[in-house]
Amino acid sequence: MSFSDRNGALCAEEVPLEEIARRFGTPCYVYSRAAIESAYREFVAALDGRDALVCYSVKANSNLAVLALLARLGAGFDIVSGGELARVMAAGGEASKTLFSGVGKTAAEIELALKSGIGCLNVESPAELERIAGIAARLGRRAPIALRVNPEIDARTHPYISTGLRESKFGVPHAAAKGLYLAAARMPELELVGIGCHIGSLLVEPGPFVAAATRMAELVDNLAAAGVRLRHIDVGGGIGIRYKADDPAAPIGAFVRDTLAALGNRPERLIVDPGRSIVGNAGVLLTRVEYVKPGAARNFLVVDAAMNDLIRPPLYGAWHEVRPVRQSDAPSAVYDVVGPVCESADFLAKDRALAAKAGDLLAILSAGAYGMVMSSNYNSRPRAAEVLVHGRHADLVRRRESLAELFAGEQIPG
Ligand code: LLP
Repeated sequence: MSFSDRNGALCAEEVPLEEIARRFGTPCYVYSRAAIESAYREFVAALDGRDALVCYSVKANSNLAVLALLARLGAGFDIVSGGELARVMAAGGEASKTLFSGVGKTAAEIELALKSGIGCLNVESPAELERIAGIAARLGRRAPIALRVNPEIDARTHPYISTGLRESKFGVPHAAAKGLYLAAARMPELELVGIGCHIGSLLVEPGPFVAAATRMAELVDNLAAAGVRLRHIDVGGGIGIRYKADDPAAPIGAFVRDTLAALGNRPERLIVDPGRSIVGNAGVLLTRVEYVKPGAARNFLVVDAAMNDLIRPPLYGAWHEVRPVRQSDAPSAVYDVVGPVCESADFLAKDRALAAKAGDLLAILSAGAYGMVMSSNYNSRPRAAEVLVHGRHADLVRRRESLAELFAGEQIPG
């Protein structure tokens, strides 16, 4: 286990979280290298024998150390901005194994991607197709592209993270895809390399995922009959993880194997772009209790992490387990775990039976995905430090922001 009790104290691999708090302070994100590697290897093992590429979705956790680790393991990357491309390159990732998705790529981002030798631009609209062709012509290059097709399949997940519905802003409508491919095939600046989809995040069962992949394969056959041959099928990410012990969540292997079974022995390369399932359970947010504040209607544990550090609970009503790092001698009570930010939405957890007192450390579990990357400086709070643990070693992989850095880019007009 990457986070487990040893001698009565919660550890990341072999390093006590208490030691990490002492060395690096709180709030602090702590990641387990072994957990990231093992999730990545689950994909590789399930894909064994198949021409396939795992393109880690950088948005889930874009720390350079995490990207470098995955690049060394052979991963490709799924990115959504020029900033993420710069990170992948800085971490030693290969542009040729990188896919660029997103509905709003700017001309500058497209140019940067083409000059870097991007593996594929996932096109989400006819207007974007035109823009890419124009930029490629100007640069004297051929742009490798795939269409991101909206398979119009309900992922049965939270509406904010559901992307495959008819009303979604993402992708090209399924019914329009063939026409757009045929139009793209007539543009000499474009090289049609694949097709992609992504129906949503935090999927609990493979059914909708497999259905979307099957729709993509049907489209590929339909296009081949019309003379357009594609080299890869990108089935997206979205594989869920367990936040609660009794959460339903099919393992990575089940998603991959069911997809392979549905696709059969097709010649195209299979691409998956998972984010959360690789890093989600591999990280915790370590925080210290500042105050115990009993109230008339509710009791509060006021901690030093807040919604600016981890916004998932207020934004999605997400549930993260809160685990005391060491069993406390304080009496147990039912608490809301809240931060110091001036918003009633500033909570990390609600209605949890916990025994804790001021000074105790708490770990907010399963915070490795969409934690640090969604953090902000709201209330002029410096962003947390990040630490990567490997066995007995803990390395600071991002130092805590300083107060001076908070307004380093600002100036008062003279
Ligand atoms: N591929 C595409 C095209 C995506 O849009 C996403 C996520 C992924 C892959 C990776 O999905 P994953 O395997 O991580 O589920 N902030 C939300 C999640 C937003 C997901 C956005 N797209 C959260 O905290 O739950």
